[in-house]
Amino acid sequence: MSVLVLAPSLMAQPSGRVSFNDGWEFVKEGEASRMVDLPHDWGVEGEFDISYPSASGKLAWWGKAVYRKDLEVSEADLQGSVYLEVDGAMAFASVSCNNQDLGGWPYGYASWRVNLTPALNVGANTIEVKIDNKEDSSRWYPGGGLYRNVWITRSPKAGIGHWGTFLTTPEISPERARVVLITTLRGDDSVCPGTVKTTIFRKGREVTSAKTSVDTVADGHTLVQELILDHPVLWTPDSPQLYEAVTTVSTHYGEDTYRTYFGIREAVFTPDGFLLNGEKTFLKGVCLHHDAGALGAAWSDDAWIRRLKMLKRMGCNAIRTSHNPPAPELLDLCDRMGFLVIDELSDTWSIPKKPNGYAVLFDEWIWKDMEALIRRDRNHPSVVLWSIGNEVPEQGYADKWFIADSLTALCHRVDPSRQTTVASDNLWSSTQPWHETVDVYGFNYKPHAYAEFHAANPDQPYIGSETASCVSTRGFYVFPVSEDKADGRDNYQVSSYDLYAPHWASSPDYEWGFEDAEPSVCGEFVWTGYDYLGEPTPYNKDLTELSNFHDPAERARAAEQLRENGRIVCPSRSSYFGIIDLAGFPKDRYYLYQARWNPSLRMAHILPHWTWPGREGQVTPVHVYTSGDSAELFINGKSQGIKQKGDGYRIRWDDVTYEPGVIKVVAYKNGRKWATDVVRTAGAPRRVVLRKDYVGNDLIFYKAVVVDRRGTPVPSAGNLIHFSIKGPGEIIATDSGDPTALQGFKHPDIKAFNGLSSVIVRRTGRGWIRLKAAMEPR
Ligand code: GAL
Repeated sequence: MSVLVLAPSLMAQPSGRVSFNDGWEFVKEGEASRMVDLPHDWGVEGEFDISYPSASGKLAWWGKAVYRKDLEVSEADLQGSVYLEVDGAMAFASVSCNNQDLGGWPYGYASWRVNLTPALNVGANTIEVKIDNKEDSSRWYPGGGLYRNVWITRSPKAGIGHWGTFLTTPEISPERARVVLITTLRGDDSVCPGTVKTTIFRKGREVTSAKTSVDTVADGHTLVQELILDHPVLWTPDSPQLYEAVTTVSTHYGEDTYRTYFGIREAVFTPDGFLLNGEKTFLKGVCLHHDAGALGAAWSDDAWIRRLKMLKRMGCNAIRTSHNPPAPELLDLCDRMGFLVIDELSDTWSIPKKPNGYAVLFDEWIWKDMEALIRRDRNHPSVVLWSIGNEVPEQGYADKWFIADSLTALCHRVDPSRQTTVASDNLWSSTQPWHETVDVYGFNYKPHAYAEFHAANPDQPYIGSETASCVSTRGFYVFPVSEDKADGRDNYQVSSYDLYAPHWASSPDYEWGFEDAEPSVCGEFVWTGYDYLGEPTPYNKDLTELSNFHDPAERARAAEQLRENGRIVCPSRSSYFGIIDLAGFPKDRYYLYQARWNPSLRMAHILPHWTWPGREGQVTPVHVYTSGDSAELFINGKSQGIKQKGDGYRIRWDDVTYEPGVIKVVAYKNGRKWATDVVRTAGAPRRVVLRKDYVGNDLIFYKAVVVDRRGTPVPSAGNLIHFSIKGPGEIIATDSGDPTALQGFKHPDIKAFNGLSSVIVRRTGRGWIRLKAAMEPR
């Protein structure tokens, strides 16, 4: 059973649309048939396999499969048109109805629909969606199957086209806003006269309306309506106020209604920063891949509300949907919760990054995919920028720049109200006319180029489309702390002092130094907000390539492994880039960003944890992240001195000597006490405590914390936890956020990782659910 959290009234949609998610027969090639509900990602159902590619998460997401379901159709339905709408199918989907082929769409992240009507009969009809998910097609975990929502829409023969409303607010003043609505009409084998009525509502109350007669309701015809709103209430991330336009096309075939949610806001990227409603606003953004950890790519409203809430508390106000069109519901949530969005087309154009990646679709599909993305998403107030691509190798070839010009022209034609960007990593190309192919230049990892770019191009806005790429493992620390010693090949983790990054990237602090020196930069998008499945840099080198190892000792160890195995096998399955880990637990870095991005929140955060048996008397640096400007550190009541943040972004006591007990920080702002944090040394693991992390409509996210006999969390505990459930609920996934854990997500038993594990429960009915966690002593 799947329950939607988003009330249907909160989603842009045509009338006559109903969910078609439940009860599909699913047959994966070589496997027995079974029943599934959508959204369904087959890749996340199985075990990890160390021999599968680490780049795409060591899960088996590829293969061929068929989804099959019956659709009941009445005589009355066949007077009109019936569409199958697919928000995303991974990948190369083709649809047939009663064995008649009706087409499909190959790009796994696109939304699309097919008209079923020509193949339908009154009574039961069999719909089949075939999937052909090709190996070696993605640089990250793509998922497999019908992993987003699927709908049936019944419409009269004439009415509103697919994504047929386009609403802009070209004039906004405190007194009034002019709303321009272009409606694209539809006539399925029909041409007839009709009327178009649009009514605008705010909080359910009618604000204004317009009614227009049209001679020809036919395919592709458009109609423009202008409406005036008095004293408009503006949309901002802090106050995401929405209006609703309800457009009804009436013809002798009946009424076709379409709801469009919109916000009144002016979003402009200028060479001196981003202006939202005339106010300079820094985009405090994160890049996000589309998987939601243990739920894989399968869309879940609850999982994403939980994720966005956590980002919001950090002070994040923007998201880049790297590197593909998101689920449409993600944009609904961004509209509602207040995030600015860079909506991105693809990771690849014509020059391949993977043998079966987007390049195989480029010639035939890129223009269709770009147009579909814009037509689907152009009414969302959250969307402020179209990204035409990410790090496409074409940036290095002048004879390919016409592709970028053409994509930008297409964006401007389909949506004249927004600017374009392209995320570029090639420094040379930023000095070439390549940068003129888009409105807003996107720099991946080049903060040192901001000032020079601004000086050379004083008329062009620019943004940090990808920043930092710091790597860390939650709760893991390596000593001594040095800027370049972060990891141990022994356990494939990365120290969480937030100083470590691959050679092309940097710590957050390094990026911020350049942002502060050059305030013309419109914003930044950190790689990444959450850990994701796949791309486990720096442990993604499953190669027989010893030159990857610079440290002579590591190299010797690697050489030995190589001799033994014939190759070096890293167990890592998921990324280390996230500010928040795969299970949804914040890493230390969360608080570093919170201190900068949410400066009015009183907060202080100490790292590392303070349970280091065996380190007594040894230097154990303490760093504090705070929105205050100075802080005093105490160890067992003894002051370690007051330190200022000064020009830095963290406060460091680098020569603290470890002794067990209580470590406390008192942070100050402008000389006044501002916030405190306390960390205690824990004893042996004694029991496990369950906390509700987030309660959604359909899913409940619990956090299991291993504690000692006094209830102090044990920061390095790795005990096995057994979950069991009573009442109307089922355990659907467990995860600990350990990037090297190779147990599949479906097991009800899991080893805690650095003291924590998460468990996701799905409600199956009404009533009390009792979840129990039992811990095995180590
Ligand atoms: C970027 C790329 C991202 C991701 C990231 C890892 O170059 O655009 O997709 O691979 O590097 O740091």
